[in-house]
Amino acid sequence: MSVNIRTEREGAVLRLIIDRPAKKNALTTAMYDAMTTALTEAATDSAVRVVLIHGQDGDGGASVFTAGNDLGDFMMNPPRGEDSSVFGFLRVATTFPKPLVAAVAGPAVGIGTTLLLHCDLVYAAPSARFQMPFVNLGLCPEAASSLLVPRLVGPQKAAEWLLFGEPFYAEDAYRYGLVNEVVHEPDLLTVAMQRCEALATRPPAAVRLTKQLLRAPDADAIQATIRTEGAHFIERLTSPETAEALTAFMERRPADFSKFE
Ligand code: COA
Repeated sequence: MSVNIRTEREGAVLRLIIDRPAKKNALTTAMYDAMTTALTEAATDSAVRVVLIHGQDGDGGASVFTAGNDLGDFMMNPPRGEDSSVFGFLRVATTFPKPLVAAVAGPAVGIGTTLLLHCDLVYAAPSARFQMPFVNLGLCPEAASSLLVPRLVGPQKAAEWLLFGEPFYAEDAYRYGLVNEVVHEPDLLTVAMQRCEALATRPPAAVRLTKQLLRAPDADAIQATIRTEGAHFIERLTSPETAEALTAFMERRPADFSKFE
């Protein structure tokens, strides 16, 4: 495993831990690759029945999920096609055959929110801060969020979340069905683990089949949307708008889009 992605097995539950607290668990290409490897192995390892994904905050807690894609990587090492690390990860995560559970606290930015659309169960602390800031980075929705967010929350709320790219919090995420339960932060991992362990006691083939049937109606549309969004996203990464947004982030100043048409 990469130093910033760790796995821990507890019985039949595999914990996939995002562990780069100094950078708010921002995801690099090496981290996507490590998560892809972990999920690919877990998919066929009969000892693993459920995967729980959560962040590490540097103090032994899980108060940071992820700040999304590493913005330095977007500048220096951007995805260039469908064989890039982020797309490899999305393919594996969106087709993972066993239950994928997330425990979310603190920032859940970009893919930190869109990944949840592909998790079967999501538990969040009141501190969870969800955000899909793609437009503010000159980018566009990813991970089939342009398909799945409107379906989940309706077109107006989806437009609000994706056009403003502002954060929203656990209560809203719960109300709109992105999150199963809001859990007092100190209990978050315990509760999420208990739900994973409960799932792991169910007949595994029936669990896998139920997940497959739940996901089947949208499966092709999701993969097609990921490809379409991905092609635009890659193109946008070299746009002047994105250059301004990323430079502004690095320079810790507000981005200025007034000169763009
Ligand atoms: N990529 C690279 N580095 C990131 C990062 C990202 N996505 N998010 C945070 N970091 C880094 C910061 O640059 C900072 O590094 P430094 O200490 O070396 O300067 C460190 O992580 C801490 O971040 P900071 O912004 O000081 O923490 P915060 O608690 O004030 O804010 C966030 C946390 C997540 C709200 C804020 O960092 C943020 O908005 N990050 C960008 C998120 C983003 O746009 N992701 C891409 C989505 S497509």
